[in-house]
Order: sequence, then C-alpha cells, then structure tokens
Amino acid sequence: MSAGSGTRFAEGLRAFDAFLDIYRTTCLEEGGPLARKVAKKLDRRPPARLSVPARKQPVAAHLPTLNKLGIPETAPFLGAIAELSARLPWERSTKAGRPMPGFDRGHCYCTLVGPNCWVPMDDLYVGLYIQAPNVFYPAHQHAAEELYFTLAGTGDWAKGPRDPKPKHFVPMPPGVFIRHKPWQPHAMETHGEPLLAIWAWVGELDGGFGWS
Ligand SMILES: [Fe+2]
Repeated sequence: MSAGSGTRFAEGLRAFDAFLDIYRTTCLEEGGPLARKVAKKLDRRPPARLSVPARKQPVAAHLPTLNKLGIPETAPFLGAIAELSARLPWERSTKAGRPMPGFDRGHCYCTLVGPNCWVPMDDLYVGLYIQAPNVFYPAHQHAAEELYFTLAGTGDWAKGPRDPKPKHFVPMPPGVFIRHKPWQPHAMETHGEPLLAIWAWVGELDGGFGWS
C-alpha cells in the first residue's frame, strides 16, 4: 500500500465513521422506539474496517443527481456518501425468485453493517438503497423489522396491515423515518426522480422474505 492509498483509506474510514455517527445521533434524537433501538446497537459497534471491496451497479450512477436532491438535514449524510462512493459494495436483490425486470434493473443496495460487512455485527443490518426513477418495488414483507431513513428524492411509499397488501401510497420527502413491522407488507414507487435511503434491519435477520 502506498502512502497515498493509505491516506485515502484512512479518509474513507473517517467518512464512514462520521456517516454512522450522524445516523446514530439522528436515530436517537428524531426517530421512534425502533430508531432508538438501532442507535443503541450502534453504540456498541466494533471498529469499521472497509474490508468488503467495492462493487459497481448501474443504478448507483444516480448518486451525483441524488446529491442535489437532499435537504439541509440530510446534507451531512450525502457528503459522507459522496466521499465513500468509490468504495461502496453495491449489489442487487436476488430475492425476486421470479422475473421482475423493472425492479431488477431499477434498484441497488449495499450492506455496510452486518455479518461480514464493514462493521461486523450479528444482530443489525444497516445499508443504503437506491431506486431509479419510474420504478415500482412491489409489495413484499419479511420477518425482520425494518427502518428506512430517506436521504434524497421523493418517492411514494405504502404499507398496510399484514393482509391485504398495501394500496395507499404517500409521498415521502427526504429526512423521514419509515418503520415496517415484522411481516408488514410494504411497497415503494418512484416517478420523476431517484430515491436514496438508509435501511436497517433488526430482529429476525434470517427469518424469511416474501412477495405479497
Ligand atoms: Fe422491506
């Protein structure tokens, strides 16, 4: 490792720690009970290690646009993500199990806290999610309890009782927490702009996933 790459690595670690610290504080001060639970878990996180190498996904190319779609409250998150963007390990969900070309090609996510992630933890997932414009993420549900925090872009979000699937979509601007209880169906739809959010899972992390 050259001195230059060592410095860049240290800068990446600093940006990631700053990102998690802002997220923890936001969860603690502005979120509900689930957000406070996430903050409490982050309090005892082990040191970050940036151990998972970068992976590219086409939808991550929306990041520069998303950087302009935030609000002052989410600007510190977007600044840290911009510093980390070349390192992020993007992937696409393989949970579809059936052809869903619009969703498959229209999203990407990364997991930064969790087993074998930059911050290795067994009882918490935290990551980023991007949805391209004009993409529908169909109604789905999972055993883990989920917390989204919107950072940039306004999409329509819906959640419903366990049955039937959600029908009523509400525009959610940046800076909003959205909680999905275990097995509560939820869906998202973007229109003219992409969407960037932080997602977190707690509870039954390996407990199953299904489409409504
Ligand atoms: Fe979900």
